[in-house]
Amino acid sequence: MRRLLVKNIGQLVTMERLVKEQRHIKIASDDLSIIKDAWLYVEQGKVSAYGQGEAPREFLDAEVVDARGGMVTPGLVDAHTHPIFGGDRTHEFAARLSGKTYQDIAKAGGGIKYSIRTTREAFSSDLLERCLNWLEVFLSHGVTTVETKTGYGQTAREEIRALEILAEARRQTPQTLSVTCLGLHDIPPEFSSKESFVQHMTEELLPEVAKRRLCDWVDAFVENGYFSVEDVKPYFDKAKALGLPIRMHADEFQTSGAAEAAAAYGAASADHMQKASDEGISALAKAGGVAVMLPGTSFYTKIAYADASRFRDRDCPIAVASDFNPGSCYLTNLPMVASLAALYCGLSPYEAFVGVTWNGAKALRLHESKGALSLGYDADFVIHKLNSIEQWIADFGQTKPKKVYCRGLEAQT
Ligand code: NIG
Ligand code: FE
Repeated sequence: MRRLLVKNIGQLVTMERLVKEQRHIKIASDDLSIIKDAWLYVEQGKVSAYGQGEAPREFLDAEVVDARGGMVTPGLVDAHTHPIFGGDRTHEFAARLSGKTYQDIAKAGGGIKYSIRTTREAFSSDLLERCLNWLEVFLSHGVTTVETKTGYGQTAREEIRALEILAEARRQTPQTLSVTCLGLHDIPPEFSSKESFVQHMTEELLPEVAKRRLCDWVDAFVENGYFSVEDVKPYFDKAKALGLPIRMHADEFQTSGAAEAAAAYGAASADHMQKASDEGISALAKAGGVAVMLPGTSFYTKIAYADASRFRDRDCPIAVASDFNPGSCYLTNLPMVASLAALYCGLSPYEAFVGVTWNGAKALRLHESKGALSLGYDADFVIHKLNSIEQWIADFGQTKPKKVYCRGLEAQT
């Protein structure tokens, strides 16, 4: 049996209290259940025991790793990324530096539409290789679970191609992937109306995806100028009827009732949420959804940040994710994004850390195996060079982890 002992851990972050109480709100520093001078024992890829002081003798014949006083935490969970795309949009970054907005660029045929063109032109083998490369970069930041969206194909055939590539990526990467079909992202050129496009995706894409079990989630970009709550109704109604769980891009630039709609559909998460109404936030919380904050996007495109106090006051769980994509957030560094969440959204260091672990896992409904180092949980963990959460939040992702483990195996970073 494969056995591993990590010894000389300066601080072991277990999240035990949050797991015991199954709690995702009202996060305080104590909730991280940190054990000082600890050891961690892993059997068959799962957390099997941990404790304080010297490790029990019976574990000493396992493979031993010395953390040399570093902090050990659960592997990070990035609950929102878009890693399947061809080409790049760095020219748009330059255009934004000379005064154009994200919306100006989109109106002129750039933005998501540009990535749709370059993605369709790319060979599947190239898209796979590039996706695996991005996953490796996430891993180098300590990210062991990644939600990966399609969204740059935007015909049933092209979206299915992207989902097949993600299925292959899932087989090849050591990380755990949660796969999302983002069927409604932007209207591609071959459709003369929004309605006909929505109808195509509803009738041609969703049934096939459900039949072949190609995704874990269905998503749409619900935003003024893209798809309204009305527009997406047939699509999400169909997803529900097919038993496909929902998550949603909601209220990023303007308030459009998207958070309320996410709640009504029982979405696992509503993401972005800078402009969500108070009612929308309350409804999401009541419906058991998670607000996924994406402060990297606010930083990268200079738009407003979400204000954590509005979510905290309404007992809405907060996760933090990268939103890595070619246009609005070309950032892979989730620890850096967590620091942005603390600095600009007003999360405490502990809320930010929970946002990229335990609550990220909740947003993906993986909180029974990911996002904590509780007994029986997957042994996805990071041995840090840093010594504490306080150092980690101040570090802005500059210091790469010493080692990263996925299900008990050291992953190459
Ligand atoms: O989450 N908001 C919609 N989708 C992405 C942006 C995609 C793009 O610009 O390519 C986002 O920010
Ligand atoms: Fe996104």
